[in-house]
Amino acid sequence: MTALVLAVCNQKGGVGKTTTTFHLARAAITDGLRVLVVDADPQGDLTSVTVGEDSLIEGQVGLADVLSDRSDEHIRDVIVPGIWPGLDVVPTTGDALEGVNNELVIAGAGREQRLHTALADVI
Ligand SMILES: Nc1ncnc2c1ncn2[C@@H]1O[C@H](COP(=O)(O)OP(=O)(O)OP(=O)(O)O)[C@@H](O)[C@H]1O
Ligand SMILES: [Mg+2]
Repeated sequence: MTALVLAVCNQKGGVGKTTTTFHLARAAITDGLRVLVVDADPQGDLTSVTVGEDSLIEGQVGLADVLSDRSDEHIRDVIVPGIWPGLDVVPTTGDALEGVNNELVIAGAGREQRLHTALADVI
């Protein structure tokens, strides 16, 4: 099965990244596709709107734990069910992703491949 990967990114704030991603996910699911949403924003807004309240536990691991050298979580271990059948989410939890942003600044060659490599195991 072929997977389509879409990245919604814009350095400017408040331009509709989260809203666009949410509605793209909904449209794909309505079309019968399965969707894995990856929330790469330290604010975690997308996680808030795509994950049911009961699906996140205290100390929940998330994308930061997948990307960081300081954690050995596999992406499979952080995926939680989303609010619709067919939707899964790699959540942003707590404030750890901000720290990982800083870690990646000095991480050297290959840092840009970490998300790609992690996703390759699940799509
Ligand atoms: N197509 C649209 N038409 C009108 N309003 C929109 C549209 N898309 C998003 N908005 C509104 O614009 C505001 C910002 O949207 P959103 O939070 O999706 O942006 P963002 O780029 O993810 O912001 P941030 O940089 O803070 O993560 C929200 O109030 C949202 O409801
Ligand atoms: Mg946003």
